[in-house]
Order: sequence, then structure tokens, then C-alpha cells
Amino acid sequence: MSLDISATSAWQKLRAHHDQVADRHLREFFAEDPERGRELTVTAGDLYIDYSKHRVDRETLRLLVDVARAAGVEERRDAMLRGEHVNTSEDRAVLHTALRLPADATLTVDGQDVVADVHEVLTRMGEFTDRLRSGQWRGATGERITTVVNIGIGGSDLGPVMAFRALRHYVDSGVTARFVSNIDPADLVGKLAGLDPATTLFIVASKTFSTLETLTNATAARRWLIAALGEDAVAKHFVAVSTNAERVAEFGIDTANMFGFWDWVGGRYSVDSAVGLSLMCVIGREAFAEFLAGFHTIDRHFAEQPLESNAPVLLGMIGLWYSSFFDSDSRAVLPYSNDLGRFAAYLQQLTMESNGKSVRADGSPVSTPTGEIFWGEPGTNGQHAFYQLLHQGTRLAPADFIGFAEPTDDLATIDGTGSMHDILMSNLFAQTKVLAFGKTAEEIAAEGTAPELVPHKVMPGNRPSTTILAPKITPSVVGQLIALYEHQVFVEGVVFGIDSFDQWGVELGKVQALELEPLLTDPQAPARQDDSSTDTLVRWYRSRRGR
Ligand code: F6P
Repeated sequence: MSLDISATSAWQKLRAHHDQVADRHLREFFAEDPERGRELTVTAGDLYIDYSKHRVDRETLRLLVDVARAAGVEERRDAMLRGEHVNTSEDRAVLHTALRLPADATLTVDGQDVVADVHEVLTRMGEFTDRLRSGQWRGATGERITTVVNIGIGGSDLGPVMAFRALRHYVDSGVTARFVSNIDPADLVGKLAGLDPATTLFIVASKTFSTLETLTNATAARRWLIAALGEDAVAKHFVAVSTNAERVAEFGIDTANMFGFWDWVGGRYSVDSAVGLSLMCVIGREAFAEFLAGFHTIDRHFAEQPLESNAPVLLGMIGLWYSSFFDSDSRAVLPYSNDLGRFAAYLQQLTMESNGKSVRADGSPVSTPTGEIFWGEPGTNGQHAFYQLLHQGTRLAPADFIGFAEPTDDLATIDGTGSMHDILMSNLFAQTKVLAFGKTAEEIAAEGTAPELVPHKVMPGNRPSTTILAPKITPSVVGQLIALYEHQVFVEGVVFGIDSFDQWGVELGKVQALELEPLLTDPQAPARQDDSSTDTLVRWYRSRRGR
């Protein structure tokens, strides 16, 4: 039986406390507790995290931690780390944390030494990428490979895409990467434009090796290659990343050129498995090892720190505080770093495919809202787009701001004396300050503003945010950031009582698309669908396509 968290006394105490503090303003919280900006902070690895600008006092935090304890977060965490089958609906262990264990660690799960397995694949990946980067592995015409094209979707795409962009300064050996995911042919056609088949290597990444988009794109890519270099070139220009050797062989890729992983790695938790091969090709095995070490730093923090000073626990519980008690639907992720431009998109799969569920692990309906909607764009671009709503709108959207001390690039300002990175960071600090404290009608009137304009200019404040600062974007820091969110997802999922590691909700759409496709393409097929909307849409499309 799954626990109904809302029926526990810990939850009821939190609810009663919410009634007392819900209307209080961050200005009051700071006035009453002037040290909170220094003390409501936590350091995890290289990440300095300020959670003082949240609508919580120290009692709220205590009660949130009590709820986490009542939900069994510590026991579930330990069970996950031991390799118990915490993915209950698929009866699987959930061991992405094992992907970043050092080689001398030990973990035996279901009779298998998983650390040895992980490091065996990492070694093969390292050897392959060394050969590729040094020019030992050459294409069919004897030329060096200069571009790897990763073909994958969802978890087999978003992590490598995001990390490749974040770590562009670590691309160091003349090999670059492109990423194809969408079944829209515009993606493949656009990404192949300008590439020479003789210097291109495709990495087909798919956990199941049965995903329609990936197999269709890979087949089209193979046609493109064969048209230029002939059938025999495939062996030198295609490698695979998968858990399914049989299907890889059926597709025509030699399993000697396949890099495996295991069913205990969820797709959205797989960038640190062989799915990261494209990333390793461009940044090298040493930088990839640093990336994994970054994850591991946060894994240890999550495993070892008491809940009261455990960053993923605190941030996960604060996220849940707003979604469960303030009717807040979403969380904005606002990196003040252009290089993290795909971080929000990456987190969307991680968080929403994990926690977008309506029933608990035992099939009973949940009694709290689940699954915050994650969204966001890098600052300062977002400031000129949607921040208006964050500042003065009627909705509460807590935000995570992410910034770095050292820039990846810097330039002088207009007058040549300052640094553009300093301007970027001053914007980050200003936004979190204005969101929290706002500006009152009195303050605005005192500036001589015309009375009729005062209501328009009032900045209500009391808009919560977390600030996450790190020294610099490095492979390790990117790994730390990912792990910080992975474990928040876990914490929230345990409190909701759901299985955060399945994704049954994506299946029906795939099945119906397969059923509908012949109706779009076969002029003899009846268009009729059992609902009048889909029926009319199919007829509209067929008529435009002359069928
Ligand atoms: O459709 C959802 C999903 O199953 C994701 O969970 C997964 O990351 C993605 O598809 C791709 O799956 P695969 O790696 O098996 O091709």
C-alpha cells in the first residue's frame, strides 16, 4: 500500500502552518530574520545555493523536512542506491547513481557487479573516442572523422545536446557534434547540410532500439551515406548505443561497435551512460570522467547529508511546498549563461516525464498535485520576454536562477572599462531582489510618480526564487547541476508516492500515430475516425496532399 502523505500528521501540521504563513511577505521574513540570507543557504560540491528568498521561515523548513521523513525519503533513497527495484511498475532497479561510481567502489545488484560492468563500457568508450580523436579510426575513404552525428530522441538526445552546448569550450580535438532527433525530416536534412559523408560518423543512440523517430532517421542517414560511399562504408560510419544488441544487429550495425547500458538506467537519466558517447567524442575521456565525478559529488551529498542540510531534499520539498499549498503549477529555470541554453529543455524531460503521474505506485489516485511544469530560457533574454508576468502577473511561478563567477567568454563594455559578464550577473542579482522585495505604492508615489500611474508601477514582490551559484561551467559542474535536479525529482516523487521511473503516458500516442499513418498515405484507406474532429483533420490533410 502506498502511503497517502496528505493523511499523515506531518502533512497536517504543514497545512496548518501554511495557513499561518501563506500571506506573509518576504519583506517581513527578512525583517524578522535578518541573518536568513546568510544562513538559509547550503553548499553541495561546488554549488552555493541560496534558498532564503522563499516564502518559508525556519519552522516551515523543519515541517517540510518532517514530511520528507514521514514519506520515507531516507529509506527510499537508500533502497534506490542499493539497487532495490524502486521502479515498481516495471520491476527494475534505478541505478543511474552507479554510472558515476568510481572504479574502486563495489555494488552488486541482482548478483551482478555493476561497477565492473559500468567501467568496462567506459573503458571501451574511452578507447573508441581516443582512436576517433587521434585520427586512428578513419572513415571508409581513409579520411579522419570530423563530425559525429548523434541520432536519438528524448533521453537519448537531450542530455548530450545540452551538455555539448554547455561544454563547447572543452571541444578540443577537431571533432565536433550535431544532433538529430525529430521525425520531421527538416531536422536530418538541416543537420546533414554541409557535411561530407567521408568525414561523418553516426552514433545511433536508443535504449530500446525500437523508437520510430530514431530508426527512421538512422535509416535515412544510412541511405545518405551509402549513396555517397557504398554499402561497405556502413561499418566505419555507424556505431550504436543501446541496451538491445539483437535489434542493433538487425539494423545492420556490428555489435562490436555497440556500446551498451542496462535496463536499470532510465532514458532521462542516461546522459552519464554510453548515451554520452557523442559528448565524450568531442570533450575526450578525461573531461567525461570529470563530468561523472561531478554527478558523484552530489550523489554523495544526497546520500550522506542530514535532510536538514541536504540540497536536493530542501529544494525538492520547497518545490512541493508551492505546488501543493500555493496552487503554483510551474517552476522557471533561468540560467544566466547562454551556454546553458538547453538546460530547461533537458530538465523538462527529467522532471515532467518522471513526476507527471496521477496515481501512486499501488495504483491509487494521488491526493496532492504532482509534477511541476518546468520551463525557462537563459537570462537576460527572458527578461525581455516573459519576466513581466513573473513580476506583476497573477500567477506564482517560483524560479531557479543559475549563475557563475567566471565567464566562459568575456568582452569589454561600451566604454571599454567594464566586463559584460559583470553586467550579466548584476542582472541575475537584481532580478532575484526585485522579485522578492518589489516596490510598494508608497515608494513609487514618493518618487513623484503621477497617481494614476502608481498602480501600474507597483511591484508586488513576494515572488520566490532559489539562486544557485558555481565557480565556472566545467564538466564537473554540469554533472553536479544535473544530479541536483535528478535527486529533487526523486524526493518529490517519494512524497507523492508515485513511481518516478516509468512513463506509461507516452505509449498511447505512439500506437495511435502508427495506426493513423496509413490513413494519411493510402488513398484507398477510409479516412473515418471514431471522433469527428480527427476525422475532419485527416480529411483536410489528405485533400491538401492530393489523396
Ligand atoms: O517516448 C519516451 C521515451 O521512451 C523516453 O523515455 C526515452 O528517453 C525516449 O523515448 C527514447 O527512447 P529510446 O532511447 O529507447 O530510443
